[in-house]
Amino acid sequence: MEKRLYQEEKWRKDTMSNWDLIHGDSRDVLMTFEDKSFDVCITSPPYFFGKEYEFYKNYDDYLQQMYDVAKAIYRILDDNSLAFININANSKNPLNSFEILKCYLEVGFEFVQEIIWYRRNAQAVRSHKRLTDYKEYIFIFVKNPEKDGYIYPEDCLVETIDPRSKYGRYKPIGNVWDIPVYVGNQFVKTGNTASFPIEIPLNCLKLSRGKRCIDPFVGIGTTILAGIELDIETVGIEINSDYYSRALKNIEKSDISKVWQ
Ligand SMILES: C[S@@+](CC[C@H](N)C(=O)[O-])C[C@H]1O[C@@H](n2cnc3c(N)ncnc32)[C@H](O)[C@@H]1O
Repeated sequence: MEKRLYQEEKWRKDTMSNWDLIHGDSRDVLMTFEDKSFDVCITSPPYFFGKEYEFYKNYDDYLQQMYDVAKAIYRILDDNSLAFININANSKNPLNSFEILKCYLEVGFEFVQEIIWYRRNAQAVRSHKRLTDYKEYIFIFVKNPEKDGYIYPEDCLVETIDPRSKYGRYKPIGNVWDIPVYVGNQFVKTGNTASFPIEIPLNCLKLSRGKRCIDPFVGIGTTILAGIELDIETVGIEINSDYYSRALKNIEKSDISKVWQ
């Protein structure tokens, strides 16, 4: 299939980076990629929280769209590839995370495990009905795993105070990730787009050992920024013009900082 050419293509080549940012609807754009052309997916789908980029008729329509994207992701991932899906729920749809999990199972993925992203500085909400939600999920799925098909690298470490650790001040990363959310200057930093911190895609990329990553809901470009940092080819798709432009700006800044390193 013919590789798409975009207006950014020339600029992208100038920066000698290995990324692509596509402005469009994932359900259309993903159809243009060949089967098994990626080996890791890292994404955070819309949460059905009533954000301005959510344009669904109702919850069923939302789930259908999430299912369609999950199906396309399954097709374009190679066997043994991991998909990391960051998702959460709220009081209106308390089962949302598990509905999304179901979509990925129904299209054929095998569930590997869940990561709890512990957002220790998330804003507390006073309620008698619901405890403040300090976590989000990152569900890990795999496509057609062979025996020993994917193996996490041993050198993915985080700090520890456990004196028994054979890695000194470090230990192998586990399934609870203590990563603060952006606060205070959140609007300045992220444009309030429900972005995840760059540590999330950085960790996922390192764990996956992927060489070619797809993020069908790339927002302001965080997954591409992580790909640039680790030198991993990354393609991001974004439907919202405003976020798409912000992503482009963020990526441009990131590449420039690389030049001056
Ligand atoms: C939860 S945000 C992802 C934020 C992203 N992880 C970041 O760090 O900026 C979901 C994003 O998906 C985009 N989106 C929603 N539906 C889409 C679709 N059908 N195709 C492409 N992008 C879509 C939204 O505009 C929004 O930016």
